[in-house]
Amino acid sequence: MQQPRYSRVAIIWSLKEYDCVPSTQSTLKDLIENNTELPEGIVIHAKRQTNGYGRHGRVWEQGDGNLYLSFLVKPKCSLDRVGQLSLLTGLALSDTIDKYMPAQKSTLKWPNDVMVNNKKCAGILIEAAPIKDNRCEYFIIGVGVNIKSAPLDIATSLETHSTQGIDVKEFRDIFLSRFSEIYNSWQIYGFEDIHAKYLEKTYERDTEISVKLGSKHIEGKFESIDMDGNLLLMCNEKIKRISSGEIYATSN
Ligand code: BTN
Repeated sequence: MQQPRYSRVAIIWSLKEYDCVPSTQSTLKDLIENNTELPEGIVIHAKRQTNGYGRHGRVWEQGDGNLYLSFLVKPKCSLDRVGQLSLLTGLALSDTIDKYMPAQKSTLKWPNDVMVNNKKCAGILIEAAPIKDNRCEYFIIGVGVNIKSAPLDIATSLETHSTQGIDVKEFRDIFLSRFSEIYNSWQIYGFEDIHAKYLEKTYERDTEISVKLGSKHIEGKFESIDMDGNLLLMCNEKIKRISSGEIYATSN
């Protein structure tokens, strides 16, 4: 069957490189504050961060030779599809990581941590602009990848699992190009294919998990991820739909 032609072009990336910033997220936010017309595709890449942060306000540790990146996207979508943006970013990152590890595949821990050998090697933080008319004008996507070092024991670095040294800028460019490909396909054809690919890579498949929601924990069996990016958890023979939380532990 002939595929319809793409009606959008790939994102045009515009790169700003820094030696050291407090956080690539806050650097990009400052730029946006001073110029609300900034186009999609601005990328902030820093060799070091002094105040990097992750989801739930946690510190994102600095490790030498790792990737610290934030970029601006302005998708044409309503707010209920933001969960999809988060999953597709994880998929693009996992696909990029897999190119460097022929013997092993990375997995995706909901919503978008990338795991290698049961340890986290990359994290994604998505921050939204203030909401107007159930739309969000832009999103800032932050990506941290442990390429050369793993700052914490519970984490791992890609070079530990790769047969080759990894050039951070080459990794960045491959990731941005894969992100652009998946993002473009999402905007044109929707989420179905991306959702199927994400599910193939889920870390939690067939496991009992504990999910942290605020100060509470809910236990259950991982069932699936729905088309809006929610986690579906089987608890006491009922499906619970969870839109945001953190998977704490898994056991087979
Ligand atoms: C997480 O797993 O909690 C998400 C971590 C996101 C970290 C990245 S590093 C680049 C960008 N700048 C930041 O301060 N945070 C994100």
